[in-house]
Amino acid sequence: MGKHSIEIVAGDIVRMEVDAIVNAANSSLLGGGGVDGAIHRAAGPRLLEECRALGGCPTGEAKITRGYDLPARYVIHTVGPIWHGGDQGEEKLLANCYRNSLHLALEKNVKTIAFPSISTGAYRFPIEEAARIAVQEVRNFLAAHPEMRVSLVCFSENDLAQYRHALRETENH
Ligand code: APR
Repeated sequence: MGKHSIEIVAGDIVRMEVDAIVNAANSSLLGGGGVDGAIHRAAGPRLLEECRALGGCPTGEAKITRGYDLPARYVIHTVGPIWHGGDQGEEKLLANCYRNSLHLALEKNVKTIAFPSISTGAYRFPIEEAARIAVQEVRNFLAAHPEMRVSLVCFSENDLAQYRHALRETENH
């Protein structure tokens, strides 16, 4: 991880060998497409069984399950905001996704955690702003919990560039 305890990587989050991976879920927690679909496929049907018992999750909040057939021990399911133009509190809700997922990880003594780019796919949140929010929230959290290691997993070259830019931008503050 070098001097940062934030690592920006390209790849498929289901293969990350970390204590917990974060899922960009929807409020039903009953699976979907994108990274949600990939995580459920890789974890196997027991993941959906456990999710069924959770009774859904409000936007901006997070719930934790086991990882089953994934290398990761846990999956932290968080529900990102759908982008409606930016005047419906989307930025705050996205920040809450990162913060609540990290606090849940802390409670479970998770040391290494990987996030996908929450809300920037089907939920259409602009990647530049989402990357800035993600990096800012992770930095704030790591300032208080330097023992944790956070990977931000990008699924495209463009996302990778945006996250790396956001990391550099927040270096000086
Ligand atoms: N590994 C890492 N990142 C991935 C993977 C993967 N295997 N698959 C997709 N992604 C990336 C996408 O490229 C995007 O950058 O995850 C990011 C989030 O995109 P979505 O998965 O579409 O999630 P989101 O925009 O938050 O929309 C959530 O989509 O899949 C449904 O059930 C989900 O209704 C919910 C909605």
